This record gives sequence, structure tokens and C-alpha cells, in this order.
Amino acid sequence: MPVPVPAAGQVRIATEAIGVGGVDAVIRRGTLAAYGFREGHLLGSEVAGRVTAVGEGVDASWIGRRVWAFTGLSGGYAEQAVASVEDVLVLPDGLTCADAVTLGGSGVVAHFALDRGRFTPGETVLVRGAAGSIGITAVQLAARAGAGAVAVTTSSVERGARLRDLGATHVLDRSGEDGPDAPAGFDVVIDVVGGPRLPLFLDRLNSNGRYVAVGVVGGQPPADFGMRLMDGFRKSLSFTTFSSDTLPGPDRQAVRSSQFAEAAHGDLRTVVHQVLPLDEAVPAHREMDAGRVFGRIVLVP
Ligand SMILES: NC(=O)c1ccc[n+]([C@@H]2O[C@H](COP(=O)([O-])OP(=O)(O)OC[C@H]3O[C@@H](n4cnc5c(N)ncnc54)[C@H](OP(=O)(O)O)[C@@H]3O)[C@@H](O)[C@H]2O)c1
Repeated sequence: MPVPVPAAGQVRIATEAIGVGGVDAVIRRGTLAAYGFREGHLLGSEVAGRVTAVGEGVDASWIGRRVWAFTGLSGGYAEQAVASVEDVLVLPDGLTCADAVTLGGSGVVAHFALDRGRFTPGETVLVRGAAGSIGITAVQLAARAGAGAVAVTTSSVERGARLRDLGATHVLDRSGEDGPDAPAGFDVVIDVVGGPRLPLFLDRLNSNGRYVAVGVVGGQPPADFGMRLMDGFRKSLSFTTFSSDTLPGPDRQAVRSSQFAEAAHGDLRTVVHQVLPLDEAVPAHREMDAGRVFGRIVLVP
């Protein structure tokens, strides 16, 4: 690839860490083809490293700063990446580039998903697909905010134990089966998975429960899943999708900045599954497809 030239309003970053997000696998599988992701798209949407050049209108003082950046559609699996300066954040001392690309995009989703779910302390929360970066942060945020219970779905006992260590109180399998002590219903469900089983989890909402769909790692839900909401009409259920794309940029950056500070102080944990060289992006995706990743894989050039 040619070295990218930052356009007006952009910076160029020499990458030191590149996040391999669940979204990259979803794009690669074609689940999001309808959103314009086509073959040939350079994957990767979050990087951290040092600014090496600025485009027109960007203050030259950015050059040399250690930053996290959302690269959007311009491609992050690269030694040099460009990003709009509004989507760039200076890293605090004490936060590694690998930690930054594990938390930067997903932490914001976790924070605002709980917010959109109108979560309040004491309520019960289920995080479906909790073993990824979004879920790992959502579990920690719900637990420390005083949730009555934080249940998770995951695929093994060992992964469940790791999630308990991060704040989960109840561990369910992927179909929602659990031990006898799990809450019968949940006030808020944060769903990273979607897919054919989504209606089963709509059934787990308490009266006035809120379901927040933030991802589709299990594919799209059945076309008629809305009928489940209508069947539960008398429970006054809510279902919403949530994408951080709809947030005002400054809101995203404010939450990200405080989460970075918390992570640098050890108050918010990031889980880096594995660090691999950039030219092992393909094995990284195979690892994700095999379901072996807990947290996030990070590529380094
Ligand atoms: N809303 C937003 O603004 C936003 C922003 C960025 C990304 N996203 C979306 O978030 C998703 C990626 O999030 P992530 O990186 O946290 O997730 P991830 O790491 O890709 O997956 C999370 C967990 O889901 C479980 N899982 C995977 N496939 C499954 C299946 N078929 N059925 C049930 N469970 C399954 C796995 O855990 P177990 O094996 O333990 O079950 C996996 O570790 C993508 O869909 C992406 O589009 C949304």
C-alpha cells in the first residue's frame, strides 16, 4: 500500500498497535455488505501510535504525540494510517498502545449501551456475548455501578470464571441456560451477538425491560423477531439498536478519555488476548472464527 497522505483535517499515524475487533470479522464475513463493505476493503478501525504528519488545517503540534485513533473506513491494518483529527485522542502516560486499541472503541459502546438501556443501580443486567471487548467493559461498568446482578452468556466454564473475575455474578451458556440461582428475568440486556437465538433473550426481559442490540457477531436475528415483543406486549418491553456512530463526537471522546485515565490507573481492566505481528492478520481472524479469543487480539507492525 502507498504511504497515505493526510487530507485536510486528518493526521497520519505510525501505528504501534492495531485492534482486531469483532466488527472486522463481521465485515469480513459479509454480514455488513448492505452497509457498503465490499471485497478489497482494508480492515481495521482503531490504531494507536505516534502522529507523523498532519493535513491542512491541523496544528503541527500533533506531530510526535502518542495517540489512539479511530480510522473508520480508511483502513487500520497498516504501518501508517490516517484519521480525522476529531477522532484522535492523546494517550495518558501509563496506558499502552495495546490497551488503548482494546478499550478505545468498545468502552464507549459499553458505556452508552448501559445509558441507552436506562440502567440504574440495583437493576439486573445480562450481557450477551460478554467475552469480547465490548462485553468485558460492560460487565465491569455494570458491576461497579451497583447492578443487582450481572449475568453473562459465554461458551465455557473457564471463560465464565474469567468473566466472574471481572464482575459477573451469574454465568449462562450461549442459549441462556444457567444454574438454579440466576435471576428469572433481566431489566437490561446488552446484546453483542444477535443471530437466531435473539428472541430467546427477549423472553428473558422483566416487565419494563430494555433490550439494547449493539452487535451481530452471531449474524442477523430472524426477520420476525419483533413478533416476540408484540407477544410480550403487556410487559411494556423496549428494544433498541445502538451504534456509537450516532453519538456526537465530543461525547464519545469525553467518555473515552475518562476510560483511558481509569485504565491507566488500573480502575478499568482491558484484556489483550494475544499480540501478533501485522502480517499475521489472517491467523488472527482464524483465531476469532474458532472462538478462541477472550478480549482482543492486537496486531503490531
Ligand atoms: N454498536 C456499536 O457502536 C459497535 C461498535 C463497534 C462494534 N460493534 C459490533 O460489536 C460486535 C463486536 O463486539 P466484540 O468485539 O466485543 O465481540 P467479539 O469479541 O467478536 O465477540 C464477543 C463474544 O461473543 C461470543 N460469540 C461469538 N459468536 C457467537 C455466536 N454465534 N453465538 C453466541 N455467542 C457468540 C463469543 O464468546 P463466547 O465464545 O464466550 O460465547 C465472543 O467472544 C460486532 O458485531 C460489531 O459490529 C458495535
